[in-house]
Order: sequence, then structure tokens, then C-alpha cells
Amino acid sequence: MDQLLTLNNGVTMPAIGLGVFQSPPEETAAAVETALGLGYRHIDTAAGYGNEREVGEGIRRSGVDRDDVFIETKVWVSDYGRDETLHAFDKSATKLGVEHIDLLILHQPMPQHFERTVAAYEALEQLLTDGKVRAIGVSNFMPHHLTALRAETEVVPAVNQVELHPYFTQRAVQEADSSLGVLTQAWSPIGGITFYPGWGEERTSVLEDPTIREIAGAHGRTPAQVMLRWHIQQARSVIPKSTNPDRIAQNFDVHDFELAPDELVSIDDLDRGVRGGPDPDAVDPSSWDLEIPEA
Ligand code: A2P
Repeated sequence: MDQLLTLNNGVTMPAIGLGVFQSPPEETAAAVETALGLGYRHIDTAAGYGNEREVGEGIRRSGVDRDDVFIETKVWVSDYGRDETLHAFDKSATKLGVEHIDLLILHQPMPQHFERTVAAYEALEQLLTDGKVRAIGVSNFMPHHLTALRAETEVVPAVNQVELHPYFTQRAVQEADSSLGVLTQAWSPIGGITFYPGWGEERTSVLEDPTIREIAGAHGRTPAQVMLRWHIQQARSVIPKSTNPDRIAQNFDVHDFELAPDELVSIDDLDRGVRGGPDPDAVDPSSWDLEIPEA
């Protein structure tokens, strides 16, 4: 049984969600079905991942009641704008095969077109009022993006999903989130971005980090489990991605051990302040060649 986190509007969300970024559509339904069979009750996808349909299929195949599953998805930037984002909800809900979405978030800020980011968020507010989504939020927002959004909109985002692992701990984002009452959710929580196969240049995998390995050894756990435990003890949500049944199981089996305060600090201290993913201010995501097909 997963730990529940309470969002700023009172909705509860299981702390651990199965991530499906880069999960090929043909493997996604099986991964979702496996995860739900193991006790996961939260799945994180995105319109931009191209596998919402298979997430819905996996939920139906699992036999778990839809209302017992917390479904999170993201609006891609090509659908930003008031009417476009309202329509993006319809596309995602239809592909997922659901009437409502538990958490709908903006995938990226668009600093170069911030007025469209605001219009997209206003559409999320409308969907919240209409009861089509239970909570709304953002992803990849830096503190100044949160400040700019708060200046122009009403509802405080429930969640900010950002790259966050021991080599990039995002202290400023975590502080901004908590001062506003936004829950921080970690993508690449076990540092997948530090070792994704095929991402070109040499990277140092956080799974190989000596400090993490030592702590893992002391607890008889794996490095991935230690990192997930570090997040959970610091009250973050995590969405580890795996399509491998053993690793899906391992990533959920993190509720029966406890890291000591000094162990948490020594993991915090591994921060290198260098992100693995794109800098939200340096890229114009609307220039990426990605359009979300109709359902
Ligand atoms: P796979 O799907 O083959 O398990 P992140 O969510 O931090 O981005 O990490 C995702 C990456 O980590 C994927 O490449 C995934 O591959 C791999 N992975 C997931 N769980 C584990 C684990 N427990 N131990 C090692 N690698 C893992």
C-alpha cells in the first residue's frame, strides 16, 4: 500500500506513480497492468509520450476500478491556448478512455510565449471548475515561471513536476514550491536521465554513485530503492519509469525501511547543480516537431 500525499486542494495522490516516458506503446499496457497488479495506484503519462491509449488499456486490463487509480497526464505546448487546451483535455480523456483526469498539468513553461502558457493554465482552471479534472499543475517550472503564473492566474498549482535526483536536487524550485503550497514531484527520480541509453555523450550514472551504493548496502537495498526512499522521506512524489516487471516491483517496495537523517543529508550533498534535461528557459518547445494527434 502506497503512502498518500494530500494536495493543496485536499485531493489525495499516491506518492509513487509508474512513469511511462519512453515506454514504447507496445510495452506500456503490460507495464501498467503489472504495476497495478503489484499495488501501484498512480500512473503518470503525457499527451507528448504517445502512449495514453495504452495506459488506458493497461488500466482496463488490470481489473482495478478506474476510480481507484490516480491518472496524471500533461498538455503538450502545441495545444497551449484557451480553446486548444480545453480540446487537449478531450483528446487525452478519449485516448485514456476516461471521463475525468485526476491531475492535468502543463508539460513545460513556454517562456517565449508566456501568454499562451497563461491561457493554457486558465483552461486548466476551467476544467477544474467543471469537474473534468480533480487537480491541476505544471511541469518544468522554475521559480520565476511560478511567480509569473501566480501573478496572472487564480488557482495555485497542486504539483510541479521537475527533474529531480541526487545529482540535481533543485533546491530553489523545492523552496519556491513549498512556499506556495505546491507539491514537488520528481521526474527521473532515480536519475534515469543520467544513464538513458542512446542519449549520446558520456554521463555519470547516479545508480553507480559510491555514496548511494554504500547506503544501499547498509540497508540491503538497491540504489534505486534508496533514492526513492530519499524522495518519499522528504515528502516528494516520484514517478520512476520501468517496463521491466522486476524493476517495477522493486521500485514500489520502498515502504518498509527508513533512511537516517545523516543519510538523507549525504544524498542531498551529492547535488552537482547540473541538469540532465533541457533548460526550460533555453529551449522554445514550440519549435520541437511534435503535434498531438486527434483521439
Ligand atoms: P527499464 O524500463 O528497463 O527498467 P527514471 O524514472 O529515473 O528516468 O529512470 C528510468 C530508467 O531507469 C529506465 O532506463 C529504466 O529502465 C531504469 N530503471 C527503472 N527502475 C530501475 C531500477 N530499480 N534499477 C535500475 N534501473 C532501473
